[in-house]
Amino acid sequence: MHAEIVFNRPISAAYRHLGVAAPGFPGRFGPGQFVMVRSPGDVDPFLPRAFSIYRLVPSTGAAAPVVEILYKVLGKGTRCLSRMEPGQAIEILGPLGNSFIVPEGLGGTALVAGGIGVPPIAALATALAQSRVPRAESREGEVISGQRAVRLEVFLGGKTHEDILCVKDFEEAGATVHIATEDGSLGAHGLITEILEPFLRTSDLGPRTIFTCGPPGMLAAVARLAEARGVLCQTSVEANMACGFGACMGCAVEVRSDGSGPRYKLVCKDGPVFDSRVIKWE
Ligand code: FES
Repeated sequence: MHAEIVFNRPISAAYRHLGVAAPGFPGRFGPGQFVMVRSPGDVDPFLPRAFSIYRLVPSTGAAAPVVEILYKVLGKGTRCLSRMEPGQAIEILGPLGNSFIVPEGLGGTALVAGGIGVPPIAALATALAQSRVPRAESREGEVISGQRAVRLEVFLGGKTHEDILCVKDFEEAGATVHIATEDGSLGAHGLITEILEPFLRTSDLGPRTIFTCGPPGMLAAVARLAEARGVLCQTSVEANMACGFGACMGCAVEVRSDGSGPRYKLVCKDGPVFDSRVIKWE
C-alpha cells in the first residue's frame, strides 16, 4: 500500500523511530505482528524489510493511520531507510503474521526482550496495561476490553546501554523494569538471563507464560529457562523475510520433529510468535 513518511528521527546513534501515514491500514494490530516496508524504488531503493509494529495511531478524521516502527541501522537497506525524509513516499504491507496470545486469568508475567526485539514487547506491555490484547478465550481477531491489568516484570538486555529501548513505555505501563548490559554501561553487568533465572526461581509472580523477543541466543536461553521451570514461553522469532506472506519460503525455521526428519515452519506465516517448545534451538 502506498504510504508517506511522517517522521524518521534518531533515538540514539544506532536506532531510529519511523512513522508512516498509511491510508487504508487497519485500525488495530496484535502485538508481535509486523509490516513489510520498502522504498518505491525512485530514491535509494531497498528490498522489502520486515519490522515489528511498535505503535499504531488510528485514523482521526481525514488523517490516515500512522504506523510506527523502531529500527536499527545495520546494513544497506536500513541505511537507505535512515536517509528518507518526511513527505517521501514509501510502501508498507501489513499487519502480517500472528501475535502474542494472553492466557485467560494471567495475573502477572515476565516480558523479556533485547535490542530490536524490544518494540513488539513494548507494544504488548502497553496493550496488557490497557487490557486490549487478544486473549486465549477470544475468537481469532477479537479483543476483550475492560479486563484488569496484569503485573508486569520486564527484563531488558543488550550489549550496551544503546540497546535498551522503550524503558519509558514500560514504566508508563506500570511495569517493574530489570536491565542488564554486557558491557555494564546500564543496569547489571552481564546477560539478562542471569537476572531472569533467579527471578523465576524465587519470585512469587509465578508466571505461567513468558513473552519474549530478541536475538536468537537470548531466545534460546530464555526458552531453556522456561522449559526447565515448566513455564510456558511465547517467543517472537526474527528471520530474514523477502515477501512476508509465505510465497518465497525464505524465512523457514526448523522445528522439533518426531524423528522422521527435519521439519520447518515459516516465520512470516506460521509466526512470528511460536510456543518456544516448538522451535528447535541450536
Ligand atoms: Fe517469504 Fe516467509 S518471508 S515465505
